[in-house]
Amino acid sequence: MHPLLEQFTKTAHQALASSPGPAGRQQVCEALSELLRNESFIQEYVDGFTEERNKVYEDPELGFCVLVHHYAGAKSSSPHDHAHSWAIYGQARGETLMTDYSLVSPPSGDQPGKVKPIKSYSLKPGDVHLYNEGVLHAPERVDSTRLIRIEGVDMKTVKRSAFEVV
Ligand SMILES: [Fe+2]
Repeated sequence: MHPLLEQFTKTAHQALASSPGPAGRQQVCEALSELLRNESFIQEYVDGFTEERNKVYEDPELGFCVLVHHYAGAKSSSPHDHAHSWAIYGQARGETLMTDYSLVSPPSGDQPGKVKPIKSYSLKPGDVHLYNEGVLHAPERVDSTRLIRIEGVDMKTVKRSAFEVV
């Protein structure tokens, strides 16, 4: 593991172990933003990934994961939350156009939940955004991007609900 990433995971562990809620996550955001502003780290480490989703760390005690993403080409994603968990998006390269949504009606059975847009904003290199439990959002990109994301738990292991925009 890159030494700066290792240092970041230790900082994140300490923050989340001592403050498990949003306050600890905010400290993780600050450490991640600092890491993303280190151009030589981005060049040496983040730029080297070719797969879309790369889990580079999973905390053995707390379960949070660090992922390096290489998203190729333009794409729009559907609104989603992170179920019972949370996520931090950190932009390393390119730009993410994010839209936040409010819940109109929750998913039930086979029926997707219904959501409406609240606001849109852009994540640029060095920008970091925390999505706490239940916060609905949809990322869009017009070109390739690279991100470092933190997931409270590995979302590959979690069943997610579907939402549609009304
Ligand atoms: Fe997300």
